Amino acid sequence: MRGSKNAVTKHMVAAVMGSSPSTILNCPEIGDIEITAGMLRSLGCHVAVEGDSVVIEPHDISSGRVPVSYGGLNRIPILLVGPLLHRMGEAFVPLVGGDRIGARPVDFHVRNLEAMGVEVHMTPEGLEAKATRLHGARIRLPFPSVGATETVLLTAVLAEGRTILDNSAVEPEVIELALFLQRMGARIELRPDRRFVIEGVDRLQGARHRLHGDRIEAFSYLVAGLVTGGEVRVHGCDQGRLVTAISTLHRMGARFEITDDWVTASADDLRPAVVQTDTHPGFMTDWQSPLVVLFTQCRGMSVLHETVYEDRFPYVTALKEMGAEIELFDACLGGRDCRFIESTAMHSAVVHGPSPLRGAEITVPDIRGGFGYVIAAAAAEGPSLLHEVHHLERGYHRPLEAFANLGLTVTRVSASPGP
Ligand code: EPU
Repeated sequence: MRGSKNAVTKHMVAAVMGSSPSTILNCPEIGDIEITAGMLRSLGCHVAVEGDSVVIEPHDISSGRVPVSYGGLNRIPILLVGPLLHRMGEAFVPLVGGDRIGARPVDFHVRNLEAMGVEVHMTPEGLEAKATRLHGARIRLPFPSVGATETVLLTAVLAEGRTILDNSAVEPEVIELALFLQRMGARIELRPDRRFVIEGVDRLQGARHRLHGDRIEAFSYLVAGLVTGGEVRVHGCDQGRLVTAISTLHRMGARFEITDDWVTASADDLRPAVVQTDTHPGFMTDWQSPLVVLFTQCRGMSVLHETVYEDRFPYVTALKEMGAEIELFDACLGGRDCRFIESTAMHSAVVHGPSPLRGAEITVPDIRGGFGYVIAAAAAEGPSLLHEVHHLERGYHRPLEAFANLGLTVTRVSASPGP
């Protein structure tokens, strides 16, 4: 497994603050690295992407303005605000994008930046930010947001004084970023109960890090094996990052072989389950679409309660066209009440299985939903035609090749328009 999409790009942003070059190893070949490298180069940063390594030399950064053309492509621009303020004193970043799986506002980021002394002005194109003196602050997040936690880490490390961040995200990718910053010279403590304490320093140097294997990819491929009655062995993703994935699949009747180097899953017959997505160490939201596809092949009724994003089920429409029996509800089914209880957001799915699936012509809507379709297509009778597979290639390392290696017949019939 190569490193994760949701870690590598954040390391690239952190590297902007180094007084010397940084090297990130075991990087995946994904569109998001190209997008982020383009953004950094537009600021004057040197970025070399070679094989599985990305080397960032930030010395020549001469602009704090990310071009508007990088708006709407991924979630990275907002994370650049703190580092660019440290480098240039002012910053402009275009509106962030990423998968359309909910409203995904940036209000927590903005509030946190303001608490640390940033003057923020929202324009129709993006966010203008200025700061004469960045300082520490005491911040409590309303929800343990991954991105908002990263914004605070990336801003507080070079700010004057101490920052205390409560209710922070503690996803492995966030911790990986914190450790990278520590390697760069940052003073970061992770306390119990989701609290980070950061003492600002005057200077960070470059660092070198080999990324850990992507837990979203690992789970997705394990499920691809289970859905098709096969057995998949995933190398290079630490068991600790998969603990909830493994325990959930265990409950459903999957068998595992686990070593220091790999994890193998297989099953004869799978039971249905009731699962709720959550922040770490809960069952991660990015694992839900493969799991829902797996539910379609289990005998009985399964429930998936999505508590992180209010709109992460649009991909279900095409699964139903393929023959899946899935109903969506706005209620909080199968778990505690979540933030979306009083909303009309269809955030719980009830799946009846097993359903024979038929091949279909599908447009890939986003990274994770799209991967779910490939798994469904693998389990379906007859061929499927997938459009806009570039979404997959923004987040997975060579997905078509990986599926072909697993025995799926995959043919690219026309060139991908790119990310
Ligand atoms: N939220 C707000 N306001 C904010 C920030 C977040 O209301 O200012 C809400 C979001 O709308 C959402 C919840 O908080 O309902 C959690 O969002 P979070 O900030 O944690 O998500 P993110 O940082 O934008 C990252 C990953 C996602 C992953 C989530 C949750 C990256 C680039 N993206 O998003 O990954 O699902 O954390 O773990 O790191 C993916 O890889 O396909 C993907 C969507």
